[in-house]
Amino acid sequence: MDKYVFESLNSFFAEYVKGFYSDDEEINFNLKLKEEHTMRVCSNITNIGKGIGLDENDLIMANTIALFHDIGRFEQFFRYRTFSDARSENHSELGIKVLVEKKVLNKLTDYERDVIVMSIRNHNALNLPEMDDKRALTFAMLIRDADKLDILGILADYYKSPESYEHLKVGESSKVTGISRNILESVMNLKSIKFSDTKTSDDMKLLRLSWIYDINYKITLMKVLERGYLEAIIDSLPMTNEIKNVYERLREYISSFIENQ
Ligand SMILES: [Fe+2]
Repeated sequence: MDKYVFESLNSFFAEYVKGFYSDDEEINFNLKLKEEHTMRVCSNITNIGKGIGLDENDLIMANTIALFHDIGRFEQFFRYRTFSDARSENHSELGIKVLVEKKVLNKLTDYERDVIVMSIRNHNALNLPEMDDKRALTFAMLIRDADKLDILGILADYYKSPESYEHLKVGESSKVTGISRNILESVMNLKSIKFSDTKTSDDMKLLRLSWIYDINYKITLMKVLERGYLEAIIDSLPMTNEIKNVYERLREYISSFIENQ
């Protein structure tokens, strides 16, 4: 795959997304959020990819995955007015359908197409499936890191000033606060949390923080720290002893991960 092919995919993306904008302020806000998210995920994946030593060709592949990982979000919001997969449909599968129907990846080799589709399919899965192809696994791990890094940034900002996100349609808006016991236990035991197990907006914050355990590369975790995302999310929770312990636990985890990778 060369950079000219990537440029044509980039043009497809821009044209495709443009088609969803309308005169509805709420739709435009949410589409723009995803369009900008996509651009930042491309930049994250380039940084992380360079950090782990990917060559030029693999960086282009990684960027293609980043460009299309959320392509399903546009049709999802247009049809259902939500980004909640639970209340609509899985946006990864929807995105893959768009890529297949519009024959977007037809100029690529079978291997490239399979790796891109597999990486999109798994970018939002709770865990990655076992796979023997280590090169394919690297792409799947990279998109998960690049995506989570940006979402943690958006949420850190949202929790700091929710008033600037009045049109945001995500699952963070439950009015119920407080922390569920099982959620606290999972985060203290370094376990990921399922969306379906959360009951309150504070549970959702802990779910987001538990993504830290799922990050694959040291360079991603270093960015989480540098950009202050961990503290911003922690500061939006009530400063109880439980939350102080969660913070300590996460800091310890990050330090030992960075030291040992
Ligand atoms: Fe996504």
